[in-house]
Amino acid sequence: MLDKVPRILVTGASGLLGRTVVKILKEREWNVVGVAFSRVDSGLIKCDLRNQESVSALIEKEKPDVIIHAAAERFPDVVENKYEETCLLNVKASGHIASLAKHCGSKLIHISTDYVFDGTSPPYKVDDECNPLSKYGQTKLDSERAVLTEYPAACILRVPVLYGPVERLEESAVTCLLGVLKNSEPKSVSHYDKRCPAHVSDIARILYDMIALMMKGKTISGIFQWSGIEKLTKYEMTLVMSQIFSLPHAHITPSFTPGALRPYDPEMDRSRLTELGISHHTNFKDGIKDCLTPWL
Ligand SMILES: NC(=O)c1ccc[n+]([C@@H]2O[C@H](COP(=O)([O-])OP(=O)(O)OC[C@H]3O[C@@H](n4cnc5c(N)ncnc54)[C@H](OP(=O)(O)O)[C@@H]3O)[C@@H](O)[C@H]2O)c1
Repeated sequence: MLDKVPRILVTGASGLLGRTVVKILKEREWNVVGVAFSRVDSGLIKCDLRNQESVSALIEKEKPDVIIHAAAERFPDVVENKYEETCLLNVKASGHIASLAKHCGSKLIHISTDYVFDGTSPPYKVDDECNPLSKYGQTKLDSERAVLTEYPAACILRVPVLYGPVERLEESAVTCLLGVLKNSEPKSVSHYDKRCPAHVSDIARILYDMIALMMKGKTISGIFQWSGIEKLTKYEMTLVMSQIFSLPHAHITPSFTPGALRPYDPEMDRSRLTELGISHHTNFKDGIKDCLTPWL
């Protein structure tokens, strides 16, 4: 039990991760302010994080105990084609939020990605060398550096490919595979790159546990990492979906072609979290069944 109900500001609250973070923290009866940009319904506050004056006014008004900064542009094709624009959100806004958090005395957890690694020598420790292969990964690495430069006491939480309740199947690189299964057109799916997918509710519970420790006075800062416990190729994920929902998969062939911009196996070491007693993993078969059932 905490002495005080914490006030949490969540950016990216309309996104795949942010929606579940807001839901789970509210279920714990924490005081949550969700911030979004274009999808501002269900009580979210609209703020363009690229507008520094708006962000300063928002944080000074809300005075959160903790900011979870989950907003980012993460669709690789958008980042490749609109790199400068993406940097304004992924990098510049992250640095600005970090400096405001420090100034206001708010704690900060900035969400980053396993795409900061090149995937050649897993599992990656938090201080292993980063070498992003894509512009997206580069913006996230630059965002980590911007945050820790402005606010060395901030936390970074690197997460792997995410799945969870989606507004459209294409919203997650995992759930979009159901579309491939349901469409009878022949298609090849990667059986090369390895991924450790995490359910967004597991990441939300990890954030809850991190903040609960902070609120009890434990000092935690720097880089933390979480990867799901099961390692699967996308082809193997489609086989799991095919089995759960009894869908034919003969039209899907495994592809062994490396993707130029994708890390082969970016599994991350979880020990900085597990040493704090923090660990949440939903079995992939159960997690994906829950998320995809509404789409059948
Ligand atoms: N999804 C994954 O598989 C994955 C994997 C590893 C790491 N991550 C990281 O996890 C974090 C959350 O990702 P996600 O999958 O939840 O992303 P998402 O579903 O694409 O959501 C992005 C969020 O950012 C908000 N946003 C975009 N432009 C904005 C702006 N100018 N001002 C304010 N907000 C803006 C969006 O708001 P509107 O939609 O309302 O415009 C939305 O809430 C990101 O940092 C991402 O890099 C994600």
